[in-house]
Amino acid sequence: MQHEGGDARASRYEAVLQHLGQHQYHWLVTGTAGFIGSNLLEALLRLNQKVTGLDNFSNGHRHNLEQVRELVGSRAWANFRFIEGDVRSLEDCAFACRGVDYVLHEAALGSVPRSINDPILTNANNVTGFLNMLVAARDARVKRFIYAASSSTYGDHPALPKTEAVIGKPLSPYAVTKYVNELYAEVFARCYGMETIGLRYFNVFGPRQDPNGAYASVIPRWIAALMTGQPVFINGDGETSRDFCFVDNVVQINLLAALTDNPEAVNQTYNVALGDRTTLKQLYEAMRMLLVDSIPDLEEHRPQYRAFRAGDVRHSQADISKAQELLGYAPAYRIGEGLKKTLGWYRRHLVPAPV
Ligand SMILES: NC(=O)c1ccc[n+]([C@@H]2O[C@H](COP(=O)([O-])OP(=O)(O)OC[C@H]3O[C@@H](n4cnc5c(N)ncnc54)[C@H](O)[C@@H]3O)[C@@H](O)[C@H]2O)c1
Repeated sequence: MQHEGGDARASRYEAVLQHLGQHQYHWLVTGTAGFIGSNLLEALLRLNQKVTGLDNFSNGHRHNLEQVRELVGSRAWANFRFIEGDVRSLEDCAFACRGVDYVLHEAALGSVPRSINDPILTNANNVTGFLNMLVAARDARVKRFIYAASSSTYGDHPALPKTEAVIGKPLSPYAVTKYVNELYAEVFARCYGMETIGLRYFNVFGPRQDPNGAYASVIPRWIAALMTGQPVFINGDGETSRDFCFVDNVVQINLLAALTDNPEAVNQTYNVALGDRTTLKQLYEAMRMLLVDSIPDLEEHRPQYRAFRAGDVRHSQADISKAQELLGYAPAYRIGEGLKKTLGWYRRHLVPAPV
């Protein structure tokens, strides 16, 4: 649905892209070898921006960087400097922040179950790492610090859709870390006059999201299973719902947040999603239908149901009006379009997990 003022918002992003076409800034993307980080890197290099990347490859992959290099070409790639380093080291953060205009901080350990299994590791990466990055960015006097927050911050609050000001109690150590990020960012704005913007991503999906490993997200995991004839498991009854968001929308809001000149928009957090709700059952069916033409065996494929997963919220849906109004966010991809693009990418690049 086109919201009122949608054209004006779309042109806000257009204006940001034009501005970037004419001005080169220096960006630091942490977690740059990961899913969202590598998509940000690709977009920035395509816009002829200068980018420093920081990643310790704990979950990211060299092949993600390699793929971005192939996609953007050697000329744009020359604007990229990669640092293999760790946000748990203040020294690495300080080195990475040197001469940087804008920080897009994505490095963290995602996954609710991982944080339940190892809360100390999650805290070290997501809280200590975050604080190090804030201190380094403050000392380097960056223009603005944009960071990946999370919809998990809504915790047990039942209201739908989620509005930024109303949160519940966290349901996992991961959710605690992401909420602490917001608190630190707010305090750094207050105490040191920093400009920060937190982006509460809902379930993001798209090219280069890792389908392998115990903590893979649902969309890449199911795509890999459907493409290789494996069973698809649905945790719970299939009515659990999420506001799935294609990664290009996430790229858009990062650029809008970095470059907004609206003073009211700064030192805020924003929901990043579509404002839609898709159940796991619907998601499975949409993916199966998009693949069945090329994989006729999927005609008979059906999901297998198993127990609910600890720490998962039941329903999630964003109210995105704050991002629309203050930042001019106008998500260009609905879920179906995003799924088509994503499936196209996995068709070309899916590497089966080692058996
Ligand atoms: N994908 C989603 O749906 C989603 C939803 C909400 C929030 N987020 C947040 O968005 C950010 C990016 O997520 P993603 O899906 O791209 O995950 P990802 O795992 O693909 O990327 C994270 C990257 O950070 C790197 N990293 C982790 N710890 C590090 C450390 N200590 N030092 C340096 N690098 C480190 C990893 O190697 C990886 O490349 C994370 O902060 C995540 O919590 C993601």
